Amino acid sequence: MKVLVTGGAGYIGSITAAALERCGHIPVVLDSLLTGPEAFVRGRLFYRGDIADRELLARIIADHPDLECTIHMAARIVVPESAAIPYEYYRDNVAKSLELFDQLQRLGKPRVIFSSSASVYAVSENFEVFEDSRTDPQSPYARTKLMMETALADLARAGGLRALILRYFNPIGADPQLRYGAYLRQPSHVLGQLVLAAQKRRDAFEITGTDYPTRDGTGLRDYIHVWDLALAHLAAVERFDAILERVAASSAVINLGTGQGVTVRELVQAVETVLGQPVPVREAPRRKGDVAGAFANVDRAYRLLDWSAQSSLIESVESAFRWADRREEILGYR
Ligand SMILES: NC(=O)c1ccc[n+]([C@@H]2O[C@H](COP(=O)([O-])OP(=O)(O)OC[C@H]3O[C@@H](n4cnc5c(N)ncnc54)[C@H](O)[C@@H]3O)[C@@H](O)[C@H]2O)c1
Repeated sequence: MKVLVTGGAGYIGSITAAALERCGHIPVVLDSLLTGPEAFVRGRLFYRGDIADRELLARIIADHPDLECTIHMAARIVVPESAAIPYEYYRDNVAKSLELFDQLQRLGKPRVIFSSSASVYAVSENFEVFEDSRTDPQSPYARTKLMMETALADLARAGGLRALILRYFNPIGADPQLRYGAYLRQPSHVLGQLVLAAQKRRDAFEITGTDYPTRDGTGLRDYIHVWDLALAHLAAVERFDAILERVAASSAVINLGTGQGVTVRELVQAVETVLGQPVPVREAPRRKGDVAGAFANVDRAYRLLDWSAQSSLIESVESAFRWADRREEILGYR
């Protein structure tokens, strides 16, 4: 199958494209390279441009009339930045996504898989969240995701599109061949910070918040190997129509996580196990906007996608560190 992957030069998009290829599908990448590196689209069918460029989309579909489905991953994704420049986040993640969806509908390409996020959920008492748990996004970024979920469900209800909305938890690691991985020079995610501390590029890893109501007081997340996440997309593409038939609806929301919550202290321990040495750690107060966290209930993913995450936390952390050693070769910077 041919699959349009918007944001396919990005971290998850490039690895999802690799998973599609591994199973004989053909990804067609649309990316503006706003953040994604050119190195991640080499050797692929690639269109450089904006998701809201209707002419470009028409050209892509004229070039590839056999596109079966669109995975819409292109977005701005940095939570603190979204609080600083909300206009750019609403414009790019909401307004431009609407243009893309409308044009896909007009061009007769109704199947959409949308990248949403666990950050749409309200904190739940035991941290486990189901797809119908209460939502309460805490940042402009998370609000753009929930808005697009709502818009997409409405577009699907009106009959033009059909949608699988995938709520990712916290992807870490790289593809098995170490060709794609985290590429930001200044990573804001917790594992990126841990890599910097382990490489002695900062004096210590800062645990921000030790008074959350979790088992050891630190924030809890559901870290999923990005390759497992990519394989979930493969299942979503291959079973798209069957899934919506099964739920008898025009759209469906599915959590993609491991089903296991891991605290920051536990993540530090996993890193120390992988490296065989301690990582310098400093405790600091909570950051504004951070939440205690969540882990996914994954029953629906298992039922509808016949998929579950296979990698252990240690394997995912190992993958991230192997990529950290490799990435200068591919990206030209550490
Ligand atoms: N990484 C995570 O932790 C995480 C968690 C939950 C959900 N998600 C979602 O998954 C998707 C992919 O995330 P990622 O980590 O790979 O991010 P990323 O920033 O690496 O990839 C996004 C890609 O979209 C491109 N892009 C941005 N705006 C564009 C536009 N207007 N037109 C064309 N291309 C554009 C960027 O150049 C980049 O290559 C995003 O939608 C994100 O919200 C990510």
